[in-house]
Amino acid sequence: MPFKKKAPEEPDFQNLPRHVAIIMDGNGRWAKAHGLPRKAGHAAGAETFRTIATYCKDIGLEYLTVYAFSTENWKRPADEVQAIMDLLKKYLREAIEKMERDRIKMRLFGDLSVLDEELLALCRETEEISERYEGFQVNICLNYGGRDEILHACKSFAEDCLSGKAVPSELTESGFSDYLYSAGVPDPDLIIRPSGELRLSNFLLWQSAYSELYFTDVLWPDFSKEELCRAIAAYQHRSRRYGGV
Ligand code: FPP
Repeated sequence: MPFKKKAPEEPDFQNLPRHVAIIMDGNGRWAKAHGLPRKAGHAAGAETFRTIATYCKDIGLEYLTVYAFSTENWKRPADEVQAIMDLLKKYLREAIEKMERDRIKMRLFGDLSVLDEELLALCRETEEISERYEGFQVNICLNYGGRDEILHACKSFAEDCLSGKAVPSELTESGFSDYLYSAGVPDPDLIIRPSGELRLSNFLLWQSAYSELYFTDVLWPDFSKEELCRAIAAYQHRSRRYGGV
């Protein structure tokens, strides 16, 4: 909800971006700084996710997309990977219980085929419930990579061409978008990366063509509603020209 006092970084809540995407980075460094195991950083990061997602819904954003686990994150120690998967199960179970009441829709973007049965079933159930109604939508990128997504889309399109459902010369940018995991979701207006890293790390490569980028040194577990407002206010001062003048 809006701050009580008008702060310089207060955004215009009547003119919000439709879609904000976040690279939830810095959990490991946060844990180290607090003398805790990396798993504790992810647990703190998951709580921040809950706080920020709730706030995004309260202020009236339409879409929030978060990068929870990349196609490259399997390189991490097995116990850390397991800890992240367990957190995802915990939060998806919670979402399943509350999403109908709270009017939250969820989608998973990524190659889910390699997930364990339990997590896969939770992902499917979450998406099935979401199909029943409209509302604020959270997209969780899980085993997601921008390049992997584009490759997956190319393969699906090629198969449709082989079966006569599609014609190569008729493919448009918007038609190609329909083959992506994010089909039907507008491109992110604003991409936020906390923790001081200045790169996209294979996140939403196709969809980010005209996204505004916002970087902050704050580590994800410390990311707050005020920080989000700062990012949105900065976004509102940008001039989006999409290649025009
Ligand atoms: C990046 O920080 C974070 C991740 C790879 C995992 C993010 C996962 C969660 C926040 C928990 C589960 C998510 C949901 C949606 C419930 P890092 O570990 O790379 O941090 P570092 O760069 O400081 O080491």
